[in-house]
Amino acid sequence: MRRLYIFDTTLRDGEQSLGITLNVNEKLEIGKQLVKLGVDIIEAGFPASSPGDLDSVRTIAREVKGAIICGLSRTVERDIDCCAEALREAEYPRIHTGIAVSPVHMERKLRLSPDQVIEAAVAAVKRSKKYVGDVEFYAEDAFRSDPPFLVRVLEKVIEAGATVVNIPDTVGYATPWEYGELVSYVMNHVRNIGRAVVSIHCHNDLGMATANALAGIKAGASQVEGTINGIGERAGNTSLEEVVMAIYTQRGRYGVEMGVNTREISATSRLVSRISGVPVPSHKAIVGANAFMHASGIHQDGILKERTTYEIINPDVVGVPRNRIVLSARSGRHALKHRLGELGYHVGREDLETVYQSFLQLADQKREIFDQDLHALME
Ligand code: KIV
Ligand code: ZN
Repeated sequence: MRRLYIFDTTLRDGEQSLGITLNVNEKLEIGKQLVKLGVDIIEAGFPASSPGDLDSVRTIAREVKGAIICGLSRTVERDIDCCAEALREAEYPRIHTGIAVSPVHMERKLRLSPDQVIEAAVAAVKRSKKYVGDVEFYAEDAFRSDPPFLVRVLEKVIEAGATVVNIPDTVGYATPWEYGELVSYVMNHVRNIGRAVVSIHCHNDLGMATANALAGIKAGASQVEGTINGIGERAGNTSLEEVVMAIYTQRGRYGVEMGVNTREISATSRLVSRISGVPVPSHKAIVGANAFMHASGIHQDGILKERTTYEIINPDVVGVPRNRIVLSARSGRHALKHRLGELGYHVGREDLETVYQSFLQLADQKREIFDQDLHALME
């Protein structure tokens, strides 16, 4: 089993979601919860982007212990110096520096030649190393880069001292098999790859960020980046809770182990949603309000007989107190009798049919039947 490091960027890439700006206290509260969740790295912000973000990263570095605290920078000298300044009091500081490597980004955005990009990348890693031992390099838009060029860049930055190399699918363009192939290509062609941790960072533009991240892990990456609830630029980032629970549920398929306390997943999701103001869709995997609810009669009957008939995750494991049977017009006699029993009404076989017919009449008028409705019905 190799260790899979969980890199949370809710406070940096997540905060880049349209409409989200977190103040220092909000970031601090989320940072402390991320430690409880057991993530290995917290990317706290982009210190050079604003005085407020510098202050947030500095405060988190000072007050949040028990995880690596990371700050983002471009290859610009001022960014790196700012990052180092913000991370001064961190227990375990990391600078995450990088530059774009795809033709469209190099030619049209940076207006730099490939050799100039390599020069800037190496200089940035060397400058970061003067401040901290742990330096992560991101090759922005790596998925759309020319793989042999990506290999050249990564070899040079590892030579310059990068301890982690990040291969982002910045625009969410990959499919799982292609992304897995790129990670394998890096593992097999970068001569000095053994000296660095390979990290993956996926965006969700085609709805494949989680699948792509899992493909990258299967191909040998030892660090996965993402956000809680999948928040982030445009369609968001990989949802960390989805990756963690996919690995947990299918233990053995990936050959990795993690240090996450899965029981904190639900609380972390609720906190991030409340503070960011971004609601979690009710059908969202793992953390959606309906993720452990059962509405149809057939499913409710199955669950009451044996939970695993319709649940692949025990809700306790992610901190959801118990699976919920929602009583509605779709529910059957078994679910109704079970809930009535929990409320202290023991209905015999002969009475159940009468009670069930009254229940259906009521349920046809209301979307959901609550306990008080059942009390009224029984009275
Ligand atoms: O998506 C991306 O490429 C990024 C980098 C800055 C790591 O967020
Ligand atoms: Zn990103």
